[in-house]
Amino acid sequence: MTNIGVFDSGLGGLSVLNELVKKKNANYYYLGDSLRAPYGSRPQKEIIKFSDEIVNFLEKYNIDRYIIACNTISTLATDFLQEKYQKPFYPITKAGLENALLFKGDYLVLGTQATVDSHFYKNSIEKLSSSKVYEIAAPNLVKLIENGDIEGPLMDKELKSYLEIANQKQIPNIILGCTHYPIIRNSIEKNLNYNANIINPASNIGKKINFEDSDDISVNIFMTKVNEENKKLIDKILDCNYYLEEKEI
Ligand code: DGL
Repeated sequence: MTNIGVFDSGLGGLSVLNELVKKKNANYYYLGDSLRAPYGSRPQKEIIKFSDEIVNFLEKYNIDRYIIACNTISTLATDFLQEKYQKPFYPITKAGLENALLFKGDYLVLGTQATVDSHFYKNSIEKLSSSKVYEIAAPNLVKLIENGDIEGPLMDKELKSYLEIANQKQIPNIILGCTHYPIIRNSIEKNLNYNANIINPASNIGKKINFEDSDDISVNIFMTKVNEENKKLIDKILDCNYYLEEKEI
């Protein structure tokens, strides 16, 4: 049986885990660092330190391969983790880029400050196509999502401002460059004045990652903070049975 480690700064990576469990059986071990989320406005040094602590914790479960279910960690810490742990680490940004390149026309990347500052999607897409890539950092969204405020006036107010350029220019493709954002997809659609093609980096991820499907599945979720709001959101995001525990890392 394959042991797969999946991690994120908090609940967002569950949107990736949900896509994985639909396609592949394995023992999944998820760590969400909700206590210290958001990561997206932190310096690279700190993001590397926190992700090192996460992987060090997950290593107890004899992990065969890791899925970095966080764009921020993917862009800033993949090389460090790969070098230190000498195991396969699959960054969600790889799937995001592959999914994005299936489309034509210009793009808007909506992401954390760190992901936008890395210009990963912009540089890669503009190098490989003639499309123009706009970037908007949306630093206030993750906190709202972690608090369970995924729809309503607070979310709409933030989205109206972050999506202004998309609405003005009617940008055809919008990349959800943070794994928390698929959770607010309905609110994003509601705040657009046109029909955009919304790209979730995690869609089809089960097909992109190469590991053998096992007969059974287990889903173990560890969070550094669990409260009633988190629990409700976990139930909403995941379509499978799971074991949940609060853990210190
Ligand atoms: N979900 C993460 C991402 O994909 C990080 C969000 C955050 O903690 O700021 O970037």
